Amino acid sequence: MQNACSGASAAGDRFSSQGSDSMIGDSSIMRELKQDMLQIAKSQSTVLITGETGTGKELAAEFIHANSSRRKQAFVCINCAAIPDTLLESELFGHVKGAFTGADEYRDGLLVSANGGTILLDEIGDMSLCAQAKILRVVEKKEVCRVGSNRGVPLDIRFVAATNHDLEAMTNGGTFRKDLFYRLNVARIHLPPLRERAEDIPFLLRHYCRDLTRNTGSSVPEFSDECLRHLQSYGWPGNIRELKNMTEALFLKDLPRKIAIEDLPRHLRLFIENRADLSLPEREALVEALFSAKWNKSEAAKKLHWSRMTLYRKIAKYRIAGESPTHTPLQKNHM
Ligand SMILES: Nc1ncnc2c1ncn2[C@@H]1O[C@H](COP(=O)(O)OP(=O)(O)OP(=O)(O)O)[C@@H](O)[C@H]1O
Ligand SMILES: [Mg+2]
Repeated sequence: MQNACSGASAAGDRFSSQGSDSMIGDSSIMRELKQDMLQIAKSQSTVLITGETGTGKELAAEFIHANSSRRKQAFVCINCAAIPDTLLESELFGHVKGAFTGADEYRDGLLVSANGGTILLDEIGDMSLCAQAKILRVVEKKEVCRVGSNRGVPLDIRFVAATNHDLEAMTNGGTFRKDLFYRLNVARIHLPPLRERAEDIPFLLRHYCRDLTRNTGSSVPEFSDECLRHLQSYGWPGNIRELKNMTEALFLKDLPRKIAIEDLPRHLRLFIENRADLSLPEREALVEALFSAKWNKSEAAKKLHWSRMTLYRKIAKYRIAGESPTHTPLQKNHM
């Protein structure tokens, strides 16, 4: 599979499995989506894939391509946001010799090089109006003219477009062409954010842990149930990319066989601590932890998955006086 997307297979990526076979997710929403994508893959229709950043839009496009009759041909991903308007035509459509200063020889563009295969127009919502006008003609006519030539070259290409923008809203605001929107919005796939498919989180974590231990000879670590519970209630604004990066960062340290809350990165530990802040019986939990730790503050902090600083802050907040035989859990409601 050819891939022209910037950063799509960045050097230094420690994960081994990329592509269509690694679309993890067994939640009902993902199962339904995979069924829809398999149906769509059988057709030649243009596809519009939407979803927040990191939800797997590019992976979904690869999945569709890999399950289509074009699977043996190229899959070319064009990052529409990364190509300046001045270069767009020659990059996408190619040029003939002498078409402009510096065009020393004839060149095929990315579209012609993907002939027979699938083109992903990635970040389509970030394309300028001028570029949209140029791409509209190609999507509609399935034909390109190289810069400097009037002769149309027919294309046998399946177009897939992806964006994390709301294109309907953009058409109303005049920043996205309505005619292009309706040409792209034929088959529609919307990838839900990870927070709406939290059941998939344990599977994704296991998948990435396995991937990171593959060929290392070390055993695959697991997440404690408590840790998983918290990770499943976190919002994951960066979606699967954030989860993947978090897992990779964990492996930079020596990991225990059971990954616990204290092994998580700081921002997640803070998230968990702050959630604990919201729970009403927090004072009771604090007294309980102090009592069972025989007032050893470090141990109590560990039990609560707080830092020592947080523990001291809470002790002050709840005016817990310190070691005292009266501070028993039985008396906690009267303190
Ligand atoms: N269902 C999934 N199973 C396993 N890995 C996934 C899944 N979905 C996404 N990923 C991984 O998450 C990362 C982000 O996916 P991808 O690049 O496809 O997201 P995107 O929606 O295109 O993001 P952006 O809008 O930022 O470009 C990739 O490393 C991809 O392999
Ligand atoms: Mg993408």
